[in-house]
Order: sequence, then structure tokens, then C-alpha cells
Amino acid sequence: MLLDWYGREGRELPWRGTRDPYRVWLSEIMLQQTGVATVIPYYQRFLERFPTVRDLAAAEVDAVIERWAGLGYYSRARNLHAAARKVVAEHGGCFPEEVADLQALPGVGRSTAGAVRAIAFDRKGVILDGNVRRVLCRLLAVESDPRALATERELWRWAEVFTPEDRPHDYAQAIMDLGATLCTPRRPACGCCPLAGLCRAKALGREEALPRSAVKKSVPTRMQAALLLERDGRVLVRQRPFSGMLGGLWEFPAVEVDETGDPTVAARRLLVDLGLAGEPVEAGRIRHVYSHFKLDLRLYRAAVAAGFAIAEAVASRWLTAAELADLPLHGAHKKVLSHLIQNEPTTPESRSRP
Ligand code: ADE
Repeated sequence: MLLDWYGREGRELPWRGTRDPYRVWLSEIMLQQTGVATVIPYYQRFLERFPTVRDLAAAEVDAVIERWAGLGYYSRARNLHAAARKVVAEHGGCFPEEVADLQALPGVGRSTAGAVRAIAFDRKGVILDGNVRRVLCRLLAVESDPRALATERELWRWAEVFTPEDRPHDYAQAIMDLGATLCTPRRPACGCCPLAGLCRAKALGREEALPRSAVKKSVPTRMQAALLLERDGRVLVRQRPFSGMLGGLWEFPAVEVDETGDPTVAARRLLVDLGLAGEPVEAGRIRHVYSHFKLDLRLYRAAVAAGFAIAEAVASRWLTAAELADLPLHGAHKKVLSHLIQNEPTTPESRSRP
């Protein structure tokens, strides 16, 4: 039933024409937290630059992050690179087929390991990603919180029961497509669903109510101050440390605003840390939402004397607007670019212009 439906209605996606485990793995990692439509151009561009796992392993992590920039959740890019090196170093450049070996690769969890095994090797691999979780919760009319440990365990057990021994490749794609196209979070298209006759939630009229949604956690807001420092038509950017959040990406110099809650004080302190004098001038505000906090980014401009040289251990560069456009800036600071273009700088040179 499901497989017949998939044969008729399955989506044509760029990673569906291949059984190359490298491509399958790459697509699964990209799709972990990002939708299909967003992933497609990134997937293609990434493969142009890194066509094989050996190319990826041989690259510098910077180059990988550069191709990833814009997809978000950057630990995925760092893990991708580390996993490629592991495949080359420990498996001779060939992806392993066993779930335990796949799961030993950085960034590969139980569900991704199951998906790669099924899709690339056509071996039984159990998947419980967001789409499959929703399909199962409805089929079985699971009323408990699907994120609760006991429910999660139960869902894995059912996912295993539902996964067939034959045609694992087709089943994996089919069940994920069903969740993505018919058994959608809102307004599931039960009228077209090949499994509607088996669905307990549908029989009970609970298909819209299940799975139970998570209680929304309130996320904190953090305030930061960032400096737009211009010198000779170039703006100062710094690279974030490789370890930690958004590691290896670039940004305008920024600091956390402390308990005083005054971003101007923080901007002034940052100016001093950079070896600059003068008064920061407010230049705008940007809001950005991460999974675990909201960022309220306050922008400041400050004059930079000609000949000023930055004395810092971190990697920093003075770049033109065109060069900035090619740099892997992280999302919040990418939004700053439009401020740079819209608002004329307040450097001494520009102020003295007629
Ligand atoms: N989501 C996760 N993996 C997928 C795949 N292989 N095809 C479509 N959507 C997916």
C-alpha cells in the first residue's frame, strides 16, 4: 500500500537518483534540521566543491563551513568534516554498512544511521525522525508526549516492527515522504493517505490533535552589542573560535551586554579592548532567533583613525562590502550587512563629505 503510493507519488529529489553512501549521508545530515526546499541548492553546491568523501576529508574545515554558511546549526558542518576524515582514516574511504559503525561517525544518530543504511545499502535500517514520529503517533493514536523517554522507547519499538525486511530503500523514502507530504503537522491529507484505513487517530477523529505538541519552553533573550568599524571603505570582522557555537564563522566584533543591561557601556568596553578611543554611536538593532535563545543585537559605529592596527590574537580582517558578501558570516551578522549598505558610515571621512 505504502510502497505503491510511493511508486506513484514519491517526490523526485536530487539525492534520490543515487545509492552513493556519501551523497545519501550528506543529504540526511543536511535534512536533519532543514526542509527539503532549502537543502536542495546547498546539497548541489556542496557536491560541486566536495564530490567525494575523500575531497571533503582533504579540505580545511574553513572551506566546509564556507559552503555550509546559511544552512544553520553549524555543528553539523564540523561533524560532517570530522566524519569524512574518520571514514577515510578508519574505513578506507568506504562508508560502513552496520548501524553501530555509522553511529560512531560524528553527527550520525540512530535515525540517520538507519536512514543511510536503508537508502544507500538497501539493508533494513530503522528510522525515527520527525516525520516518521508523527506518522507513528497517528497510526497508533499515541496520546502521551512523544518526547517522553518511555514513549520514545515505545516508538522505536514500533518503528522497528513497521520496517520491512524487503525493499528497505523504498520503505525509508516512502515513510518519510508520507510524513512530509500527506501526514503533515497541520491538516493531514487523510483523504489521499494509503494508510488511512489503518490509522487509529483517524478512526478516533484525533488526527489533527496528535502527536501532542510540546509545551513551549520560553526562551531567554540575550543582548549583545556589535561594532561596525570602517576604515578606508573596509569593515572589521573577526572569526569565532572553532570550538563552541557558530565555531569558525565570521562576525562583526561583538560582546555580551552584562547585567547593567546597557549596550552602550558594553560597546564602549569593546572599543577599549580593541585599542580604540571615542564614543560609539547607535546604528540600529537586529533580532535573531536561535533554538535556545533570542538575540537582541545592538549595532554601533565608531570612528577609526587612519593607520589604526588591531592588536588581537583572534583572526580578524578589514573587508569591503563585496568581500563580506562572500564571507561565511553567521545568520544574525548577515542581517547586519543590509544595515551597512543602507546606512552611510559615520567615519571621519564620510562626515566631512558635503
Ligand atoms: N528527510 C530526511 N531524509 C529525507 C529524505 N531522504 N528524503 C526526503 N526527506 C527527508
